[in-house]
Amino acid sequence: MFAGLAHERSVDGRVYTSPEVFSAERERIFARCWSYLGHLSEIPAAGDFQRATVAGRPLIFIRHNDGQPRALLNRCAHRGAEIAGQTCGNAQRLRCPYHGWTYATDGALTQIPRPAGYSGADSPKTGDPSWALPSYPVESYRDFAFVRLQCDRSAAPLEEFLGEAREALDLMVERSPAGKLSVAGGRLAIVLRCNWKVYLENLHDGMHPPQVHASSIGAARNASRNGKPPLEASWVASNGQPLSAFGQLAVRCHPGGHSDMSGFRNEAGGEDSGYRAALDAAWGARRAEQALTRNLHNACFYPTASAHPQYMQMRRLTPLAADRTLVESWTLRAHGAPESHFLRNIRYANTIHSPSSLVKPDDAEAYRRVQQGLAGVSGHVSQHRADPGEAPGSAGTALSEEYVRAQYRAWRDYMGTRR
Ligand code: FES
Ligand SMILES: [Fe+2]
Repeated sequence: MFAGLAHERSVDGRVYTSPEVFSAERERIFARCWSYLGHLSEIPAAGDFQRATVAGRPLIFIRHNDGQPRALLNRCAHRGAEIAGQTCGNAQRLRCPYHGWTYATDGALTQIPRPAGYSGADSPKTGDPSWALPSYPVESYRDFAFVRLQCDRSAAPLEEFLGEAREALDLMVERSPAGKLSVAGGRLAIVLRCNWKVYLENLHDGMHPPQVHASSIGAARNASRNGKPPLEASWVASNGQPLSAFGQLAVRCHPGGHSDMSGFRNEAGGEDSGYRAALDAAWGARRAEQALTRNLHNACFYPTASAHPQYMQMRRLTPLAADRTLVESWTLRAHGAPESHFLRNIRYANTIHSPSSLVKPDDAEAYRRVQQGLAGVSGHVSQHRADPGEAPGSAGTALSEEYVRAQYRAWRDYMGTRR
């Protein structure tokens, strides 16, 4: 049904606009892959929970009293009411606000008001697994937790699913001498008025910054005119590098649509010697050096997450409709690193990723225009751009659309349209 929509170097615009494509993507892609739920530090104690939505299903990401995280369907087994209403919180029991059915933090049904009202073999009863909240497999890699809604036997475990893209998560953890990260500094959220793929297709797009971000680049250059620019201005101004500089950024495509890009801004150096010595002791000199200097920028865990290891950012993508996508981002604190590192990363998040920053609204407007331009009109969208001499399927630079083509190879595999 969707076979004619996505080709090797172009797609039909309806992949971004069709409600039928969107609902098929929910079942064939988002319900089948490992979707990013959150970092385990967000639910440190038993009963701590966060809500998430995966493939349209409302979930409760909760720590059970055995210490393990669970992903429960946030849907009462009685009449289907949403049980957890808050974005996050702590609950030793999950009590439905409608008629009071109560569940344990592993989903087991523990209490039904007026149980004498239920009789017969098929009636709801406490302790019966068929009346528990459905619980989906959660796996974590270095405390980054993912869920999978459909688990057929052939499904790859999380580590295999992430493949070499795992490096982005390794680099973040290895900035902590204790090997421990925690989410800190709050959450940034923006609802983009575009299809989820439009966002992922921008992650390594080195052609757009000088143009899309021209106004903030100009402001940053003005701010830098008299003397040493503030750090924020130098971050924003780096979007104004010549295209030849973006052509130096190395983009790697991994199986499954994952990818990463390195080389954008290098702020390593100047770490205090105690921190460096602690990293060396924890990881060995080579890995410590890698953690500090391999500046991965916008790693993509197709299709639900993106990390920015250089500034310790993790982002979660939630498609809401064919033309609406929620993007949330968090900053991770590396335990044992100087406080100045954390503060720098928070400043970065506020300068670049915040919906009220000088930069993010430019991207959001470009995405909105793509969506608007495609609305209701079929026709091809080009993904032809390649580096000179680029071999098909090879790693490219930020001026090539190879990573977009790789995303569509994964898309066709999931959607069952690859020929
Ligand atoms: S819908 Fe939950 S108890 Fe009735
Ligand atoms: Fe941008």
